Amino acid sequence: MKVAVFSTKYYERDYLDKFNTDGKHNLTYFEGQLNIETVHLTAGFDAVCVLVSDKVDRKTVEKLSANRIQLIDLRSAGFDNVDVAAAAGKNIKVMRVPAYSPQAIAEHAVALILTLNRKTHKAYNRVRVNNFSLQNLMGFNLSGKKVGVVGTGKIGRVFANIIRGFGCDVIAYDIKPSDILKDKGVVYTSFDELLKEADIVSIHLPLTPDTRHLFNSITLAKMKRGAMLINTGRGAVIKTSHVIESLKTGQLGYLGIDVYEGEENLFFEDLSGSIVQDDIIERLMSFNNVLITPHLGFFTHEAVEQIAKVTIKNFTDFETGLPLENEVKAQKASLIL
Ligand code: NAI
Repeated sequence: MKVAVFSTKYYERDYLDKFNTDGKHNLTYFEGQLNIETVHLTAGFDAVCVLVSDKVDRKTVEKLSANRIQLIDLRSAGFDNVDVAAAAGKNIKVMRVPAYSPQAIAEHAVALILTLNRKTHKAYNRVRVNNFSLQNLMGFNLSGKKVGVVGTGKIGRVFANIIRGFGCDVIAYDIKPSDILKDKGVVYTSFDELLKEADIVSIHLPLTPDTRHLFNSITLAKMKRGAMLINTGRGAVIKTSHVIESLKTGQLGYLGIDVYEGEENLFFEDLSGSIVQDDIIERLMSFNNVLITPHLGFFTHEAVEQIAKVTIKNFTDFETGLPLENEVKAQKASLIL
C-alpha cells in the first residue's frame, strides 16, 4: 500500500522501517504536517498516516477523498484532531494505536511531579555555574499527600499504582470507575470533592465535549490553595488563560503540562531561532512554578516501537481485508472533539 506518512522525524522512521519487513508497504515520509495547505501532497497515495499535530478537519478530509485516500491511520491513541464523521461520510476508514505503553505516559506524569516539587531542573542549572545554594529549592514529602487522579483508564490506572508506591493517598474521579483500583483501596469521589481534597491533581482524560475546559476559573477555584496540577491528557482539558490567572493569585501552586491547547503550532519543532507568536505559552513559561514538556509522555523506546508495530499492522489489516481491530468508529468518535 502506498502511504504518505506525515509529521515524521528520524527517530520514528527507523522503527517504522524495522516493522515494514521486506518493504511490504511503500512509505513516503514527509516532515511537515498534514493540513489543508499540504493535502495536495497526498495525490497518488492510498493512505495517510498522521500524528496529533496534523489537522485532518472536514475540508482536509474532502481533499483526501478527492485524492482517493482510503485510510487515515493515526500513530496515536487520541484522535481529536481527525474529523472522523467527515471521513465516514467519504467512506474513508480511520484507525489508531489505542494502547501502546500506558507506563510511558504515567511515568512522565510522575517525572513532572518530582521535578516541580524537588526542583531538580533548577538545581541542575545552578550547580553547572557553581551555585550550590539551596535557596528556594525546598520541596515537600510526597508520602502522605493526597493525589487526585482524574480519568482512570489505561494511563490513569498505571499512574495511580505508581503514585501509591510513594505512600500517597489516592482518590479518583471517572465516569466509569475501575473495580481494579477500588480493590486496591483507591476511593472514587465526585469531581468537586476531589478538587477540594487533593494536594496534587493529575489529568488523564481524553478531549471530549465534556472534558474541554473542564479545568477553568470555576473549577480551579475549588482546588486546595497551593495545589499542584499535572496534565498529560490533552491540552484543551485546561482553559489556559484561566490557569494563568489562578497561578498569578497563588491559588494554583504548581503546574506541570506535557500537552497544551495551542501545541500544534509549536510542539515537535525547533523554534529556537524564531520569534514565537503565542503569548499565552510565553506567559506560562515566565512562572517559576510551571514546567512544560513538549508532548513527550509517549516518547520511550518501548512506546515508539509499539506504535510503529501497530501502525504497520493497521496498514496490513486494511490492505488484506482483515477485521479492523483498531478502527475508530464514527459513532464513538462523535463523542470526541
Ligand atoms: P482511556 O480511554 O483508557 O481512559 C480515559 C478515561 O477517561 C476512561 O476511564 C473514561 O471513562 C474517562 N473519561 C472520559 N470522559 C470523562 C469525563 N467526562 N469525566 C470523567 N472521566 C472521563 O485512555 P488512556 O489510554 O488512559 O489515555 C488518556 C488520554 O491520554 C488519551 O485520550 C490521550 O488524549 C492522552 N495521551 C497522552 C499522551 C502523551 O504523550 N502525553 C500519549 C497517549 C495518550
